[in-house]
Amino acid sequence: EHDMSETSELVALCATDDIEQGGIRRGTLPDGHAVAIYNVDGEYFVTDDICSHGEASLSEDGMLEGHQVECSWHFGRFDVRTGEACAMPCEKALRTWPVRIEDGRVFVDAGEGNA
Ligand code: FES
Repeated sequence: EHDMSETSELVALCATDDIEQGGIRRGTLPDGHAVAIYNVDGEYFVTDDICSHGEASLSEDGMLEGHQVECSWHFGRFDVRTGEACAMPCEKALRTWPVRIEDGRVFVDAGEGNA
């Protein structure tokens, strides 16, 4: 287990109830970076909001199918668990952030986003 005490910067993004199952919501990190928050069968994941292919907002223009989000602009896809691009024309991964659920709220560790 990763020790979150040293570098963690837990940020509350929304309430778990704010996102229906299969839904996506936009959130903002303290530095202003936009993220997309996904509810996959009651499990929450957070990635960059902006598609790595163009300027689409995945929270607005994305559709969840299982653990993949499809960008409606050109039908590229990402795995929301890892950020990995899984359908062309998307090739570059999205960043992801570790999620924690506490007191019915969705938190991310803003200090721990992968690059
Ligand atoms: Fe998302 Fe092109 S902008 S697939």
